[in-house]
Amino acid sequence: MRAAIIYWSKTGNTEKVARAIHEGLAAAGVEVLLRRVEEAEELDFYAYDLVCIGCPSYRWHPPKPVDDFLVRKFGQYTDGFYPHHKQGRVKTGAPKVPGRNVLVFCTYSGPHTGIREAIPVGKYVGQFFEHLGFTVLDEWYVLGEFHGSEERSTKGRMGDIRGRPNEEDLRKIRQNVAHLLRSMDDPELQAIADYRRLSDRIATAGQPTEKQLAAVAKAGFEAVVNLALHDTEHALPDEKGVIESLGMDYAHIPVVWERPTEDDLDRFFHTMDRYRDRSVFVHCVANARVSVFMALYRILRLGWPVKGALRDVYTVWAPNETWQGFIDDMLNRKMDWEQTEI
Ligand SMILES: Cc1cc2nc3c(=O)[nH]c(=O)nc-3n(C[C@H](O)[C@H](O)[C@H](O)COP(=O)(O)O)c2cc1C
Repeated sequence: MRAAIIYWSKTGNTEKVARAIHEGLAAAGVEVLLRRVEEAEELDFYAYDLVCIGCPSYRWHPPKPVDDFLVRKFGQYTDGFYPHHKQGRVKTGAPKVPGRNVLVFCTYSGPHTGIREAIPVGKYVGQFFEHLGFTVLDEWYVLGEFHGSEERSTKGRMGDIRGRPNEEDLRKIRQNVAHLLRSMDDPELQAIADYRRLSDRIATAGQPTEKQLAAVAKAGFEAVVNLALHDTEHALPDEKGVIESLGMDYAHIPVVWERPTEDDLDRFFHTMDRYRDRSVFVHCVANARVSVFMALYRILRLGWPVKGALRDVYTVWAPNETWQGFIDDMLNRKMDWEQTEI
């Protein structure tokens, strides 16, 4: 496995984090390259299984040299600057390129509004890579002393942050690298249509092929839940047989695209409750049905805030009239409005 760490740092905080990530990756046996943004112009992101990119927050933006670098690289990939990228890498729908992953890290001092001064940087930088088909594994926000401003390092919203990131912060970063590597899915899993990793335990997707189901089993999933009908175009002739021969449980809840029902949802809840402590792969045809059912499960069974759960649906599709009506109807009927956060 190959990784590249690209960073920009003016007063040393981000550099410390970059070096801690470097140590964590090297300790895990990863072949890793560490480059400042200024030296990364020729680097091809696609040549690495994992790109780690980091910078400080400057007025809740990336610093200009970092923004300019990203815009330039983006332009190169769009225009087919690299000979083997003639078609351009920025495709409508941003299809995932299997095996291409990114970690975004941002250091900040948060003197005025805390971590909110860093989150826009993480999201913004992550978007460049997501547009290129990379999977954003995580965003790390790391507190750093505001060098040159005593007041902002002691009286800001984050309190006394002098000396941060300190040894303890860096130790945690090295440790988190190991967790990050574990969360990197096999490229074969990432190649499944509309694949999304929702948590350590749950992944969702469109219809997998037989070969991809073998990758699902290899990745340690114990059960597959299928919400598609058996007679759709890419359905497998005997999905149950394939899954059971791979040693996984199979649950089939056929949800008619034009007419999702409360009974379907109840069966889904029941099934997911049953697999509460197990690793589950949930699929339909294009992850549309599943994205809505999972969001409703998270809201109505796991107590997730409505907005957060529904936002994940919008990373897959915008529900049509039937499905938006279904969401509204199910929330109205099943939600305990006193208990649930909007
Ligand atoms: C010009 C400038 C603007 C900054 N603006 C912000 C800001 O808006 N929000 C914030 O949380 N930190 C801000 N900081 C603090 C840095 O983000 C923080 O100290 C960071 O860790 C510095 O990284 P570096 O040491 O790698 O250069 C600013 C620092 C500078 C020098």
